[in-house]
Amino acid sequence: MSVDHFAQKAGSYEQNQSRVDNVANIAKSVLETIEFDQSMHIVDFGSGTGLLLEKIAPYVGKITAVDISKSMNLQLHEKRSRLGCEIDILEVDLEKTSIPLQVDGVVSSMTMHHVENIEAMFVKFYSMVKAGGFIAISDLDTEDGSFHTEDESTGVFHHGFERGAFAKAAIKAGFQLAKVSSASVIHKPQGDYGVFLLTAVRLAGR
Ligand SMILES: C[S@@+](CC[C@H](N)C(=O)[O-])C[C@H]1O[C@@H](n2cnc3c(N)ncnc32)[C@H](O)[C@@H]1O
Repeated sequence: MSVDHFAQKAGSYEQNQSRVDNVANIAKSVLETIEFDQSMHIVDFGSGTGLLLEKIAPYVGKITAVDISKSMNLQLHEKRSRLGCEIDILEVDLEKTSIPLQVDGVVSSMTMHHVENIEAMFVKFYSMVKAGGFIAISDLDTEDGSFHTEDESTGVFHHGFERGAFAKAAIKAGFQLAKVSSASVIHKPQGDYGVFLLTAVRLAGR
């Protein structure tokens, strides 16, 4: 059985205003960049308590929330009836499991630094996204390792990402028209941390 790295944090996750503000900034960037519509079914990878998907829900038909953490999924489950679209919650480790879905897009915030092999994850996203579909993936810029305190650092594989290398991994998986923009800055007592948004598409006929 896998360890739930968020078990101690899930209940108070949304009490951290800087975290809530960061995901609100990310959601704003996603909504400004992607044209959603009510016919869409999208996946939120590493959905956590639903901070990102709750902002996108009013603009799509269905969101499949994918998260390995039972405790985070429980928090999301509790707000499910207040969300603006149909929500499915899948408790899976997407690094180890494939899900047989073909969706219009994959969104994700602050999860890829928890993924050991990001190249393999982009290949998985590519297989899940329909031709013409998109990814909108947000995470930390390269940082010096101070972002996570010692007790938060289990399950962290990357101290953020260099934007060019991150986009290259998506392109290697087959995505095209990759764009990276600044989405947010997280202010912590130990420093400021940039957050980017990568968008890219799976072109039709490929
Ligand atoms: C830092 S939290 C971000 C949650 C949410 N997206 C947000 O921005 O508030 C990362 C989430 O990714 C989930 N996660 C990490 N690795 C995962 C994997 N391999 N498969 C599914 N979920 C994963 C964790 O359980 C956690 O809920």
